[in-house]
Amino acid sequence: MRGRPFPVPRERRPFEEGSELNDLRIGVVGTGAIGRKHIKRISESLKGGNVVAVSDVAADGARQVAEEYGARFVADGYELIAADDVDAVIVSSWDPTHKDYVMACLEQGKYVFCEKPLATDSAGCREIVDAEMALGKRLVQVGFMRRYDRGYRQLKEVIDSGEIGTPLIMHCAHRNANMGPQYEDDYMITQVAIHEIDIVQWLLSDTYDRVRVLLPRSAGATNGVYHDPQIVLIETANGVCIDVELFMNCQFGYDIRCQAVGEKGIASLSDPSYPEISRDFQRGSKVADGWEARFTDAYAVELQEWIDSVRSDRAAGPNSWDGYAASVTADALLRSRDIQDYCSVDLPERPDFYRDSSVR
Ligand code: NAI
Repeated sequence: MRGRPFPVPRERRPFEEGSELNDLRIGVVGTGAIGRKHIKRISESLKGGNVVAVSDVAADGARQVAEEYGARFVADGYELIAADDVDAVIVSSWDPTHKDYVMACLEQGKYVFCEKPLATDSAGCREIVDAEMALGKRLVQVGFMRRYDRGYRQLKEVIDSGEIGTPLIMHCAHRNANMGPQYEDDYMITQVAIHEIDIVQWLLSDTYDRVRVLLPRSAGATNGVYHDPQIVLIETANGVCIDVELFMNCQFGYDIRCQAVGEKGIASLSDPSYPEISRDFQRGSKVADGWEARFTDAYAVELQEWIDSVRSDRAAGPNSWDGYAASVTADALLRSRDIQDYCSVDLPERPDFYRDSSVR
């Protein structure tokens, strides 16, 4: 990190309802697949935000995006973050770049929405937590978009209502059609399981005690370069047992499952992507082809709520501690995979500073 002292949070421009002149001026670092989708959403369908600057080390692509959406191209991500005409920042670049960009946003006292993971390991996330606490104001939101998915929100309402009784077991699956041989073993945890790690603790309002990774025999499509599928087992502090199937080459589509087994009933995640059709003596529905198709509504709600909260000078949604907690769990899972045994999740108690938004 670049080692400048942290300033006090910067004065917020006053925003007035109904005035486009007062749109939140957003800078986006990383104009790859998800960065472009976020820019398109903000520019074409969301309210209250305007992308004014974009940056990417792949300059040609970013210049094209800038031209398409009337934004300015800035070659250096740190320069974009420091720019006076940028009120808030979206970090959607590669995972290893997240931590330093988020730290730069904190140095500037600017709100930042960072795609998951917050950092590639728990030490990096902890640096962000410590810097934000030293600043004394929450500015970071992490892109755990499942908390904005209608199905997961309904599932949480059912669990919280007590309708299915005390939760005992969670069965989850995270399946992707294909990933190819360039994929890496660690990504199964740090990029894929990280979503389940966050969403299940949010659904259960619980913390994790110990974890284990099981490695079934590999599917042919992976060419043996990484383990696929994998099974993640998690035991919570309250004694709930969770299993998560991670399968990156399941061939048939992008398929997300989550089922809570309670002492009085079972609640399962609905998949709002496609209707069920009965025809010609068959019943069924399409399966999404990827994360964008499955969670398109969730991404829109997530970004709209981020824009709204930043315009009201308030951090909401998954915070840096949530990013850190997920990363501590991911680190334990990586250890477990390597030693093929249970590993404990050693997470300190959540500070009051981060308490209110972890459970919406
Ligand atoms: P991508 O590879 O399509 O795009 C990443 C972009 O970052 C590339 O354009 C690359 O040139 C740029 N980049 C790399 N180093 C950079 C640097 N130092 N400064 C500025 N730009 C840099 O990847 P994708 O799929 O768009 O993913 C981006 C991030 O979003 C990843 O961290 C990923 O984990 C996360 N993601 C989150 C999802 C979610 O469901 N919340 C879904 C997909 C991605």
